[in-house]
Amino acid sequence: MQLKKIPNHIAFIVDGNGRWAKKRGLPRKIGHKYGVEAVKEIIKACLEYKIKFASFYVFSTENFKRSKEEIENIFDLLQKYIDENLEDFVKSNLKLMISGDISKLPKDLQKSLINCIERTKENDELVINMCLNYGGQQELAYAFNNMIKDNVKDATPEIIKQYLYTKNLPPVDFVIRTSGEQRISNFLLFDLAYSELYFTKTYWPDFNKKKLEKALKSYQNRDRRFGKA
Ligand code: IPE
Ligand code: IPE
Ligand code: MG
Repeated sequence: MQLKKIPNHIAFIVDGNGRWAKKRGLPRKIGHKYGVEAVKEIIKACLEYKIKFASFYVFSTENFKRSKEEIENIFDLLQKYIDENLEDFVKSNLKLMISGDISKLPKDLQKSLINCIERTKENDELVINMCLNYGGQQELAYAFNNMIKDNVKDATPEIIKQYLYTKNLPPVDFVIRTSGEQRISNFLLFDLAYSELYFTKTYWPDFNKKKLEKALKSYQNRDRRFGKA
């Protein structure tokens, strides 16, 4: 499908893994497992569409309120995903970036992530920004604390941006949230300022290239005015 307007930076709130599993009488962890498969398919599709930046909200600061078992399962799946796909990332010219405080994640996972970031740092086809232990308000607090340390006196939006996890990323053009919830849940608060929003009832494990295409078609018809008349 040929599309005229492709978002430069697309962001996904990957929601509904648990309900996807529940609907099938399966444990939540199976939902997360198929959620990873959907991430793989969507990254492939982003490459095909020549999208340059894709953010995935994988684990929020608030997700630490879940059971220890579920949290460990999510981190295990993530580690497996990174380790198994590292060479593919390198080959496909993907660059991994992380937004969030990874110091609270298991040590082995931190190592895998740092290794993947290092191995892919020169790549430039598609930047994958994984938001991990990420919270938008926490990101702003992190930025402001560092601005205070640097003695910044006259903060402007441009200066604040330089202190964010996302300092090297352009603003988000298009946000897709699956699972029917219509909220932002503390995601990229600063970078979402002028994003177009798209909500679908599809649970994340069922989100695929075709559904992404449908969302991108909706993006074609958006009139982004940025305050202009
Ligand atoms: C999204 O699915 C994955 C994460 C937040 C880690 P959920 O686990 O939130 O699934 P639901 O919303 O309970 O269905
Ligand atoms: C948002 O999903 C966070 C991620 C997708 C990582 P949640 O399932 O945690 O959001 P709420 O609690 O429904 O707002
Ligand atoms: Mg959820």
